[in-house]
Amino acid sequence: MEIIDKKELAPGIVQFLVDAPLIAKKAEPGHFIILRHKENGERIPLTIADFDREQGTITLVCQGIGKSTKEINQMKKGDAFLDLLGPLGTPYPINKLGTVICVAGGLGVAPLYPKAKALHQAGNRVLSLIGAQRKEMLIMTEEMAAVSDEVRYSTDDGSFGHHGFVTALLQQALSEEKVSEIVAVGPVPMMAATVKVAKEFNVPIVVSLNALMIDGTGMCGGCRVTVGGKTKFCCVDGPAFDGALVNFEELLLRQRYYHEQEKEACHRCRLEEAGK
Ligand code: FES
Repeated sequence: MEIIDKKELAPGIVQFLVDAPLIAKKAEPGHFIILRHKENGERIPLTIADFDREQGTITLVCQGIGKSTKEINQMKKGDAFLDLLGPLGTPYPINKLGTVICVAGGLGVAPLYPKAKALHQAGNRVLSLIGAQRKEMLIMTEEMAAVSDEVRYSTDDGSFGHHGFVTALLQQALSEEKVSEIVAVGPVPMMAATVKVAKEFNVPIVVSLNALMIDGTGMCGGCRVTVGGKTKFCCVDGPAFDGALVNFEELLLRQRYYHEQEKEACHRCRLEEAGK
């Protein structure tokens, strides 16, 4: 699983082009992989941000926020990941619907891109709304522009586009035109806020959930989420779900479950880097 190319998209966010012909052959928008970068390495789920069946490559985007993801982002062109498991998950359904709004927050652009691309290819009008903390954290802007009829931006600090949250852009867009569906990917609070707006306007919304995962094949139960009052496994039933039915409060609590252990691992990592 050789890294053919590597590009830093934003501070701490790296894009890898990986030689993975068998995965590329079967990949569809919405699929993800589980990566181990070294023996005994943590299993990291990453969405397939793009794939090229002819070249036999897949594109992965990784944000270095924990010990393992920081180590992954230090890997170089020519290095190889130990193993990649995938494609996993249920592909996102692609239909010709009319106008579809694609909403991304932060790193959510990477999983959103293949969906926007497929929706655009299927003949939909794609309006993309992309939010980030600040201008330098906006990623894949050229790629999103190429698969969208229109792109609007927001930044929390006002350094680019609308000053504020991406939900304000969504509210504005929904009051301007008839929309068939919304697709939202990003941090859980952002997706929850986006669903709230979609409900106000009575527009269907699909969200892509980033629950904690271990095996990625429906066996451990680690990624369970409640959707419409029923337990679902994000790794096999999702990661895309009807946003109106997702219990976001529970998802947020489950995501924070290992917060202390993550902090501890990062602390140890910093001490190792400092040689202590
Ligand atoms: S990651 Fe284990 S059941 Fe989904």
